[in-house]
Amino acid sequence: MDMPHFLDINRTDPKALRGMIDQAGQMKSARAGRPRGMADDEQPLAGHMVALIFEKPSTRTRVSFDVGVRQMGGQTMVLSGHDLQLGHGETIADTARVLSRYVDLLMLRTFNEGVLLELAEHATVPVINGLTNRTHPCQIMADILTYEEYRGPIVGKKVVWAGDGNNVCASFLHAAGQFGFDFTFTGPEPLDPERVFIEQAREKGVTVEVVRDPFRAVEGADLVVTDTWVSMHDSQSMKERRHNQLRGYQVGTALMSRARPDALFMHCLPAHREDEATSAVMDGPHSVIFDEAENRLHAQKAILRWCLGV
Ligand code: CP
Repeated sequence: MDMPHFLDINRTDPKALRGMIDQAGQMKSARAGRPRGMADDEQPLAGHMVALIFEKPSTRTRVSFDVGVRQMGGQTMVLSGHDLQLGHGETIADTARVLSRYVDLLMLRTFNEGVLLELAEHATVPVINGLTNRTHPCQIMADILTYEEYRGPIVGKKVVWAGDGNNVCASFLHAAGQFGFDFTFTGPEPLDPERVFIEQAREKGVTVEVVRDPFRAVEGADLVVTDTWVSMHDSQSMKERRHNQLRGYQVGTALMSRARPDALFMHCLPAHREDEATSAVMDGPHSVIFDEAENRLHAQKAILRWCLGV
């Protein structure tokens, strides 16, 4: 059997994805009312060591993976790119083979998707994608969990992404195909998602639209999502140009009012308030951004269990 890596939503069987979302919800419910530091009743990761490797900064991914492993009885080591010789000093393949002799699972946040894929190809333990410049699958699993907690099944719903067609947007497109919801991108043409992500979703039979007018795009939306206008891997020198390109795609109350009355608003955070979204929206009645952040923990616990088969 193939190694159960969690590299991208489109590379993972839809039934397995559904199982992870359902299990995440069940594990979250089972912890309701407990102190955050208390271990789960079930300890499926007891005796497991997980390496969390970060070549880029992180708050949510770092802490939620670390806490999630510990709640399930496992142990973690958090390593920065500087600590390792990943891709310099030795081949990525050799690092993968060596780390696989020490730990039971590798979670990697890296710039270059190629590094992640090479690590997974040569590792003899599961590898989880904790974000690359192209995709961010763990985030979208948390987003699906969050949507369904509030509104029930996401199948057939309309999700609108406003702004930069970045790595988070790409994983949303993967999820559209796998979970069966429609997706509309609204943003300036130079920042469109890669064509391949759009085509892959369409091949799965869902509707994917690109609409330049944000007010027309959000009509009928069940969920409106945005993200920072300048990603971690983007040069800060492009900030002014990005702001000029994206100013018209800010999610404010006027834009949200064109979505369905019960539409949710999501942002994976960190956010630049008053740029991609106003505080009135982020802290307003449609927003579920902090549940979304919390659900990184629960969704990733289910991903870890699936990868480890426990
Ligand atoms: N959303 C997200 O991945 O947050 P971090 O960059 O803080 O991990």
